[in-house]
Amino acid sequence: MEQIGGGRASQVFALDDRRVLRRGAFDAAAEARLMRYLHGLGFPVPEVFAAEGADMTMERLHGRTLGAEVNAGAIGVPEAAEILLDLHDRLHEIDAPAELRGSTRGLAMDANGIRKVLHLDLHPENVVVTDAGAFLIDWTNAIAGAPEYDFAVSWAIIAGVDPGELGPELASQLAWFETARAELLAAFRERAAPPALETAVAYRFADPNTNAAESERLRKALKAS
Ligand SMILES: Nc1ncnc2c1ncn2[C@@H]1O[C@H](COP(=O)(O)OP(=O)(O)OP(=O)(O)O)[C@@H](O)[C@H]1O
Ligand SMILES: [Mg+2]
Repeated sequence: MEQIGGGRASQVFALDDRRVLRRGAFDAAAEARLMRYLHGLGFPVPEVFAAEGADMTMERLHGRTLGAEVNAGAIGVPEAAEILLDLHDRLHEIDAPAELRGSTRGLAMDANGIRKVLHLDLHPENVVVTDAGAFLIDWTNAIAGAPEYDFAVSWAIIAGVDPGELGPELASQLAWFETARAELLAAFRERAAPPALETAVAYRFADPNTNAAESERLRKALKAS
């Protein structure tokens, strides 16, 4: 099988032109149910064909990630910000299914009974740009709650990025990256109140993949916000 993607949490293989297999470390049944629910409502998420244990077979998207599009200069930063905000807005119109939990890593995000679907990992590498528009992938972290937490987590993810880890193309254009970062941060911060930003930073601190350097960047960003 040809591996076409994968990060810390999973590997993605092309089965054929139409389907991919995503092999993770955990049972994918709940994630598959949520993706099917969203697909049924017309949200741009890959169609799920089968889920068995940690394996999920889904529609293969043809296109680059939004991050790769920006990196290649094919999509400008203002347009990328618009795509990300639009995905947030469309997702947050959707009521969460009853089975979706309202807290994660010990943090409740469904105060006042607001239960919209939150992705909680909505960043440029989890968006695939296709001829049929931008699709949102990687639903492992999704929970139910108030939209501002989703914007706040996107803010924290972008604030925590180390440009040195983004690959040689971007590393050679740090000034450009910092301008883009500032633009994205402002757009997300506008949509989340300070307590939500604090919760988002706590959420990122509780992620075992968040290292000391990223934590330090987050602390600084929170202070400056
Ligand atoms: N349905 C799909 N069609 C085509 N490519 C896909 C699809 N799903 C995932 N990919 C590719 O695999 C990569 C990783 O997918 P995904 O983000 O779901 O996995 P992950 O292991 O959780 O990633 P990470 O840990 O980096 O967040 C994506 O960036 C994309 O390039
Ligand atoms: Mg991902």
